[in-house]
Amino acid sequence: MQSFLSQLQKGATSFIGTNIIAVDIGTAITRIAIFEKGVVIREPSYVGLNTKTNEYVFFGGEAKEIYGKAPNFIQIIHPMDFGIISDFDSTVKLIEHFFEKAVHPFFFKNKLLKTKFIAYTTIPSNATEVEERALEEALIKAGAGRVRILEKSTVTGFGAGLPVFSNDPVFVIDMGAGLIEMAIIIAGGIVASKTLKLGGFHMDMVIKNYLHLKNGIIIGENTAEKLKDDLMQFSDTKKVATIRGKSLENGLPRSIRVTSTDVNEALISTFNQIIDGIKDLLETIPPEVVDGIVKNGITLTGGLGNIPGIDKYIMLDIKVPVSISENPADATINGILKLLKDKDRLARVVIR
Ligand SMILES: Nc1ncnc2c1ncn2[C@@H]1O[C@H](COP(=O)(O)OP(=O)(O)OP(=O)(O)O)[C@@H](O)[C@H]1O
Ligand SMILES: [Mg+2]
Repeated sequence: MQSFLSQLQKGATSFIGTNIIAVDIGTAITRIAIFEKGVVIREPSYVGLNTKTNEYVFFGGEAKEIYGKAPNFIQIIHPMDFGIISDFDSTVKLIEHFFEKAVHPFFFKNKLLKTKFIAYTTIPSNATEVEERALEEALIKAGAGRVRILEKSTVTGFGAGLPVFSNDPVFVIDMGAGLIEMAIIIAGGIVASKTLKLGGFHMDMVIKNYLHLKNGIIIGENTAEKLKDDLMQFSDTKKVATIRGKSLENGLPRSIRVTSTDVNEALISTFNQIIDGIKDLLETIPPEVVDGIVKNGITLTGGLGNIPGIDKYIMLDIKVPVSISENPADATINGILKLLKDKDRLARVVIR
């Protein structure tokens, strides 16, 4: 242990394999993996604070479950906005809880003295230095001995199986709950990027507002998210769901049928804004890069990559091949895990 601590102080990455974890605190979902074991946490990024006692009482899935139906003195917080910490204390508590639940039992089995572990995490390319420092501090406060922050798009592309370290351009779009993050990567570095605050959480609000206006019904965020996840598609298989909310007219319970066509109609302008963003980014890149992009295509990652037919919908408009990575929502955490086995490449994507 003594030697591990001294290596920590030196900041070396040469002790890969010793007490190392990967952390991806997503806007919707936090994923934590242990180097030797794989993913051990995949839970909603939500906490519940008892405002009477100032204690955090719900974490992850259970906090999200009661979002919108908790008693007044329980405040449900999602501490991440657009891929960045928006509530520092809640983030610390959330991560601390997950560390205690799934990381400590792995590393500290039958040990009285807790050795520290090193946490590798990522941050979006548009984050400021202050936001980077907040992420580092939150993980340290939650129990990590040391934190290394990696460039998110490159890591995500690597996790999606793309040759991000080659001299050929790679175009990856991570479509998560917070951000739509587009990046063109060559030789392990970003040559052009663009982020749009039009991720899944924004889409849920759009669905909520749409049903408010069109059907005069008020629904909660979790219901809107479920409608998006279950009904949104760009293919021919139309689905239907019956949901319950409150009538705008008299405040009484009301149920309505919502179809895939409704959800498409609500979200189409958001998707077209995303496509415009892709076109804007393509316009800024040097001509030498365009050829490689057209040849290699665009790869989609993130939870929105699960929307059936989204690849073809984007491809039809921008006329560049588009594909969805395998297991798109886990691309970032898988990218960190893969890089932990490759310390030379890992060193190239470390930001701090
Ligand atoms: N089948 C699906 N159809 C539509 N949306 C989906 C589907 N599956 C997941 N999603 C959405 O994907 C989002 C979660 O994606 P992801 O896990 O990549 O986000 P995140 O990593 O937490 O966010 P970010 O990286 O932006 O901080 C949620 O908005 C979720 O509703
Ligand atoms: Mg993510």
